[in-house]
Amino acid sequence: MTMTIYEARDYQDMSKKAANIIAAQIIMKPDAVLGLATGSTPVGAYENLVEGYKKGDLDFSKVTSVNLDEYKGLSGDNDQSYRYFMNTNLFDHVNINKERTFVPNGLEEDSQKACSAYNEIIESVGGIDLQLLGIGGNGHIGFNEPDEVFHAGTHCVDLTESTIQANARFFASMDEVPKQAYTMGIQNIMGAKKILLVASGEGKAKALYDSIYGPITPKVPASVLQLHNDVVIVADEAALSLIKEKGEC
Ligand code: GLP
Repeated sequence: MTMTIYEARDYQDMSKKAANIIAAQIIMKPDAVLGLATGSTPVGAYENLVEGYKKGDLDFSKVTSVNLDEYKGLSGDNDQSYRYFMNTNLFDHVNINKERTFVPNGLEEDSQKACSAYNEIIESVGGIDLQLLGIGGNGHIGFNEPDEVFHAGTHCVDLTESTIQANARFFASMDEVPKQAYTMGIQNIMGAKKILLVASGEGKAKALYDSIYGPITPKVPASVLQLHNDVVIVADEAALSLIKEKGEC
């Protein structure tokens, strides 16, 4: 395992450091396949990437992207869908070819169809060069929730109560929060050549500690990253607080 942990002072610093790693990937390989993530944590990194593009330092014209997940039942026009999130936070502001940006199809009701189509897309783009990940307070990555087993490929998940509640802040009412999602599986994620995980705030401290130093278990999905040979974690002081308290870094 090669896991490098970068400590950031705060959210801004974390965002800048994460964006620098993504920018380096695009500069090294202009036709890179980026695995992208949603959630509030990567927003600042995307802002930095947009800034880099506007300054003329970054060119997304040959980049392909595959996103981790999408809510089942939401269309790309729905302002809570992950497709909408990606458009508004990144794709609309850079010169990426939108036809080369992929997100699972939330409107496909047939889960098997939606998932196998997405696995095929990931394969057809030649796999992922750099996968960006956030982490849920319960250690989930993408929407791979704590479970009895690791799920290999893209699959449909029933979101846990804690995830539904955590996501409720973005919806007008609890009833509107989708209860299911399509997500890349562990094999899709672990197949990436490099993984960049970002974490901010005390709410992530336990999940981060358990993922890095706890046993590898599907009950803490991010713990599987211990088996990857190229993981970079960029986390702020609050997210690293438990790791530091235990003297691990
Ligand atoms: C959602 C997403 C994850 C993300 C997580 C944490 O569940 N599917 O990819 O990592 O939320 O979100 P946040 O960064 O807002 O804490």
